[in-house]
Amino acid sequence: MSKFNRREFFQVSTIGGLALSLPLNLKAGGPKNKKEKLDPYFSSVGRFSHSFLRKIANKYGSPTYIYDWDLIKTRYLEFSDGFKKHYPKVKVHYAYKANTNLNIVSYLTSLGAGAECISIGEMSFALKAGQTGKNIIFTSNSKSEEELGFAIKNNILINIDSLSGLENLEKVLKKVKSKSRVCFRINPDVETSSTHKHISTGHKFTKFGLMYLNGDIYKAAKRAIENNLISFEGIHSHIGSQILESKPFEKNANILCSIALEIKRKFGHEISFINMGGGLGIPYRDNQARFSPERLASIVCPIIKKSFSKFKNLPEVWLEPGRYLVAEAGVLLSRVNSVKMTDITNFINVDTGFNHLARPIMYEAYHRVRILNGKSKTKKFQVAGNICETGDMLTKDRLLPKPEVGDILALLDSGAYGFTMASEYNSFYLPAEVAIKGKSDYLIRKREDFDDLLRNQKIQKSLI
Ligand code: LLP
Repeated sequence: MSKFNRREFFQVSTIGGLALSLPLNLKAGGPKNKKEKLDPYFSSVGRFSHSFLRKIANKYGSPTYIYDWDLIKTRYLEFSDGFKKHYPKVKVHYAYKANTNLNIVSYLTSLGAGAECISIGEMSFALKAGQTGKNIIFTSNSKSEEELGFAIKNNILINIDSLSGLENLEKVLKKVKSKSRVCFRINPDVETSSTHKHISTGHKFTKFGLMYLNGDIYKAAKRAIENNLISFEGIHSHIGSQILESKPFEKNANILCSIALEIKRKFGHEISFINMGGGLGIPYRDNQARFSPERLASIVCPIIKKSFSKFKNLPEVWLEPGRYLVAEAGVLLSRVNSVKMTDITNFINVDTGFNHLARPIMYEAYHRVRILNGKSKTKKFQVAGNICETGDMLTKDRLLPKPEVGDILALLDSGAYGFTMASEYNSFYLPAEVAIKGKSDYLIRKREDFDDLLRNQKIQKSLI
């Protein structure tokens, strides 16, 4: 058996950076005694044929994000109709962080979605997409005076995250002599085991939300009720992202309801909505089961209905899906630059990397990959990005047909947290974005060029 396993091999090469530091006794294929079971290779890419996608890649160049417009609509309706089957008053707010292309957010506005935003940029996108302040939620654990002022001016609902954040808002309201609509984000101390630790947001060690455990939420509620510049409308909790288990959602619903009832008991105040946040995951793997929005609704809505039976009015149920609405609609098309076969491992080197799709390196996320028109027998490959870092692997240990240089490779389910997390690292240009509606394709963002990289740089002659 080789002295080094695969992980150590990559660590050594990362630290050393040079071939000199690699172990000399590595055997082909890594450790022999470990039976690896790799996912079988499928070739389908949603409703698109390989030849159609190759045509798109040739027309717009690569890398390019494409979005299946019709699938965005299907997922949106699945979400809102799924909940409406189980509850009479439902509002879906799309989480802008998943994808802010103006065409996408405007399309979701036209379908009836409101907006969940974290920055002035996202709130501005929402306003530009046709939203009024009434349908925008501003959620952030760290809001500046400028951001609060922007939200107040536009009558945007402010989601308060801490007692200190509430004090800040009170000061700004006094200063600008204005009123504001407010809800409170709660930290319910709910664990989620099915997701990555970086995107699990509901447990007590996270930076998010007023603690349910120490009663901070009631202190905040009392202050808000007593302040006539504040209209306290609802409570919110977002426990994390890519969640594929029912228990955390169920626990969260129970806690939110018990808080709403306690606020009524203590202060006689009835909230008008319960915001359950986003977080519903998608099946990133072939043959993985889907957790449908309707199933989620069938779990949380009865809890809410039962809890509020004694309220004058049943509160609205608000949701904030991001990933579920747009992830599966997106595909990142890239071109194979070279194929390196070695005794140790096989690499497909493509013309994109973690600069354009950060999820694999940030969350060890799995994205299905397709070689368009891959005909040869499958072999084990790593899909390597073109960024100058060893960690820039888009997929690891997959069975894939051996591509030719110039072939197009598709990374699936890249519509959420793909383009919005992309950067100009290594001075690569940000990709183009293309929408496919029916059989027609539309450029919705042109590829960057060198002028875009230079855009905000100022050349100061006296420094050079
Ligand atoms: N509401 C709030 C307050 C949020 O913070 C988020 C996501 C959402 C809604 C939407 O969650 P979704 O339905 O998309 O799970 N970059 C990570 C995901 C980060 C999610 C951050 N917050 C990823 O690529 O997996």
